[in-house]
Amino acid sequence: MTREEMRRLLLVNGSEQEELFAESRKARDLHFGSTVVLRGVIELTNVCRVNCDYCPMRRDNVRENDTYFLTADRIVEMAGLIRDSGIDVVLLQGGETPSVLPILKDAIPRIRRLYNNQVEILLNIGNLKRAQYERLRSIGATSYILKHETSDPALHLRMRHETLESRLRCMRDLQEVGFKVGTGLISDLPGQTLDSIVDDIELAGELGVDMCSVSPFIPAPNTPLSLSPVGGNELALNIIALLRLCYPQLLIPSVSALERVGSGGQSRGLDAGANVMTVNFSSATDQKRYLIYGKDRFVVTLDHVRGLVRASGLELRGSVFIDEYLMSGEPAT
Ligand code: 5AD
Ligand code: SF4
Repeated sequence: MTREEMRRLLLVNGSEQEELFAESRKARDLHFGSTVVLRGVIELTNVCRVNCDYCPMRRDNVRENDTYFLTADRIVEMAGLIRDSGIDVVLLQGGETPSVLPILKDAIPRIRRLYNNQVEILLNIGNLKRAQYERLRSIGATSYILKHETSDPALHLRMRHETLESRLRCMRDLQEVGFKVGTGLISDLPGQTLDSIVDDIELAGELGVDMCSVSPFIPAPNTPLSLSPVGGNELALNIIALLRLCYPQLLIPSVSALERVGSGGQSRGLDAGANVMTVNFSSATDQKRYLIYGKDRFVVTLDHVRGLVRASGLELRGSVFIDEYLMSGEPAT
């Protein structure tokens, strides 16, 4: 597909958009069958050393936020709930802080034992040193989400106060130490161009990642971007469809931000070719403290996912990575 064609398809609506989605669903169903991978997420901490302009958990807010860290015991207990729900992908995510590392070193092997090793442990805890990634891999973490957010280096620096280059280096490190890696982008970030979204799509291909998410920008309270216009679901959905067409093998989540922007948004994500959904297992108290998108974010329950997946004519399934890891001799814990 040419860049010109991508730019055009990113803006289609009406019947042309429906045709695009139909093609993209066909690509998904050919590659994965009509299935959706289910993840369970545990939100480890709302403390973060990064200062992203779009996020209420940014460093400048840490002092005024009601901060928390889950203990290893609590994480393992929640992983037990995820297991009891029949979910075999445990997503451990949180703000970027090295303080979670000792906690994870305790928790991850215990989660693996809980599952008899039949589990994918997916991390989303930010930029770390290569040696730290190696250690996490060696204790049994299997996959890692580290989103490039925007491939425009100047915009990346402006929004995250970190370089795109450092982010990409971490992604390479993760791949080299044996993680399955997921990237992702935010669409309609203030200052983003359509051309840079085409770059985002191409970057996902160049990086050779296994997963890629798309989230429409949400102007979150208590951030420098609180007054910026909210991102559009249609653009985000068209990006999902293009990613699916360009790289049929990608895991692409239908994220809660889609539902937050418009009711029915997550169901449209599945229509556009997404094939992952994440159920939130945080306690009500921690949900309120994990301030992504602000206090009134949409919290996804298992019932919501079940209903939505069934209505889309799809079936739930487990991790696509576990078998591969078992064959390659995952460390016994
Ligand atoms: N709008 C959209 N996506 C956001 N994220 C964080 N804040 C926002 C926002 N305001 C996404 C980013 C980040 C993940 C934690 O959530 O992609 O990686
Ligand atoms: Fe930290 Fe992630 Fe929020 Fe950025 S988006 S401030 S890295 S929690």
